[in-house]
Amino acid sequence: MYYSEEIVEEVRAKTDIVGLISGYVTLKKKGNRYWGCCPFHNEKTPSFSVSEDRQMYHCFGCGAGGNAYTFLMKYENYSFPEAIKTLAERAGVSLPEEEYSQEQKKRANRRQRLLDINKEAATYFYYQLRKNPHGETGLAYLRKRELTDETMKKFGLGYAGKNGAEVVQYLRQKGFEDEEIKASGLANFSERHGLTSQFWNRVMYPIQDINHRVIGFGGRVMGDGEPKYLNSPETDIFDKRRNLYGLNYARNARKGNMILCEGYMDVISMHQAGFGQAVASLGTAFTPEQAHLLHRYTDNVLLAYDSDGAGVKAALRAIGILREEGLAGKVIDMRPHKDPDEFIKALGQEAFQERIDRAENGFFYEIRMLEGQFDQKDPEEKTKFHREIARKLCNFEEDAERDNYLQAIAEKYFIGVENLRKLVAGYAAQAGNIRIMERPRSGVQQKNMAPEDGTRKSQRLLITWISEFPQLYPKIKKYISTEDFTEEFYRDVAGKLFEHIEQGNLQPAAIISAYEDEEKQGEAAALFHAELPAMETLEEKEKAFHDILYAVKKNSYEYYAMRQGSDPSALNKTVQGKKALQELAKLHISLE
Ligand code: CTP
Ligand code: MN
Repeated sequence: MYYSEEIVEEVRAKTDIVGLISGYVTLKKKGNRYWGCCPFHNEKTPSFSVSEDRQMYHCFGCGAGGNAYTFLMKYENYSFPEAIKTLAERAGVSLPEEEYSQEQKKRANRRQRLLDINKEAATYFYYQLRKNPHGETGLAYLRKRELTDETMKKFGLGYAGKNGAEVVQYLRQKGFEDEEIKASGLANFSERHGLTSQFWNRVMYPIQDINHRVIGFGGRVMGDGEPKYLNSPETDIFDKRRNLYGLNYARNARKGNMILCEGYMDVISMHQAGFGQAVASLGTAFTPEQAHLLHRYTDNVLLAYDSDGAGVKAALRAIGILREEGLAGKVIDMRPHKDPDEFIKALGQEAFQERIDRAENGFFYEIRMLEGQFDQKDPEEKTKFHREIARKLCNFEEDAERDNYLQAIAEKYFIGVENLRKLVAGYAAQAGNIRIMERPRSGVQQKNMAPEDGTRKSQRLLITWISEFPQLYPKIKKYISTEDFTEEFYRDVAGKLFEHIEQGNLQPAAIISAYEDEEKQGEAAALFHAELPAMETLEEKEKAFHDILYAVKKNSYEYYAMRQGSDPSALNKTVQGKKALQELAKLHISLE
């Protein structure tokens, strides 16, 4: 961690999470929690809860969860240092100079050096375009493509120099080591030529992250030539799956939608024409990570892919990815032009706006594309088409939504509603064919988790319960220990929880800070938010608690009993477990 645990905890403790999150999400108090619509996935009824006591949030819909830090990091896409700076300022805590461990210093330095090189290179390319006589060809090229000087400046466009040695020399002069230059992806090493620039005689498009930092480049040949675009390779700072070209501007466009397209030039043309909400994936296919990123800013994604065969294929693929993310994509029809850049040049901004307004629902688009694959005059083929529609309809989880689409499609393609409904029901009944039953609600959060079973659930319930009523811990610690949490991550969280209680200072939100990656933080928050069974009387509660405790212990007993052959300590644990179980069976635990 960059800061000492004490200061991290001080800043967190002085922050009121309800106040913080209220700045982003409308919260209503219900019971001892606050509720609102989750900012991390698309929903209409609130399943996002914020607990004042624990200073945590958790979404029962998508599983997102954490404390004040993780909230800012997720919502604002802040790094941890950025989050702590924001919170410290808000709480009036002054931060000490950043403290780094050796290892972290090295890693942070490394990233910073790569950012510095990219920034330096961007500056170099930028001036080559304007100041170097060779750059004139680049400037002429970009002007021919009808970019204004203002646009070129906004996107930091540049020119790579006439040959492969120039930028390398420049970077060396600026004090960068050859090894660093190579690691930045700006140059390649060969025995024969030494270090030579990856880019030369190309116009350069710096790729920026959402904080406007240059993390890589795309370079285009001027005119025809192969490859048309050359991109920086992935590096420690350039992850193509998790960045979108133009998002640094588009995130503030506030147009109520985002336009996703294929190319750098498309983004730039659209921005120049007033469509500042345009972004593009980076020379690679659209990824689920990018869909998740977009979801942070909008519920409405419009696809402006090329109108050729490859574009249609890419659009169909993107619609699927967006749907997985809970986003309904729409498709902008670019015909008769190839891409947004060409469309806008030919027909202008107003015509493009009209196309945006008329964008086609993603599902309708999918079905329309499907239609062309079947000979509609042949009854056999037509039936196949209808079956395929039914199969696709099964992808809608929600009954109402599925039925709305079903009716709309039936009408559009002159299919009897009831016939189509039967087809869908037929598919739905076929095990494995339907996602309505098998799919967890969030594709992202739960992907890596083993299927839910009773054991995990009891362990979670026990952690939540003890964290809510820490006074129970002394009564049960004789019977239960961290080892009884057979799920490794749960054991870790339980260990920290028990430690906090022993020290008489339980701060569940602080436990979350102990985990570095976002997924673990979310999982830890979920452990403190298991849904306790609804219980009225004290007697019911005591029985429920006893059942959970017993279930956890029994599982642990069985777990170690099975491992006696392979784990030398298991025998001991089994014997003790058996004894504890017998005692527990007879024990009455008072919750008063
Ligand atoms: N691309 C790439 N490498 C290539 C070709 C394309 O990385 N060899 C990526 C670029 O990000 C490019 C996008 O795919 O912007 C779309 O490619 P394409 O449709 O071929 O080019 P345009 O965007 O139309 O580029 P231009 O208008 O400059 O011809
Ligand atoms: Mn183009």
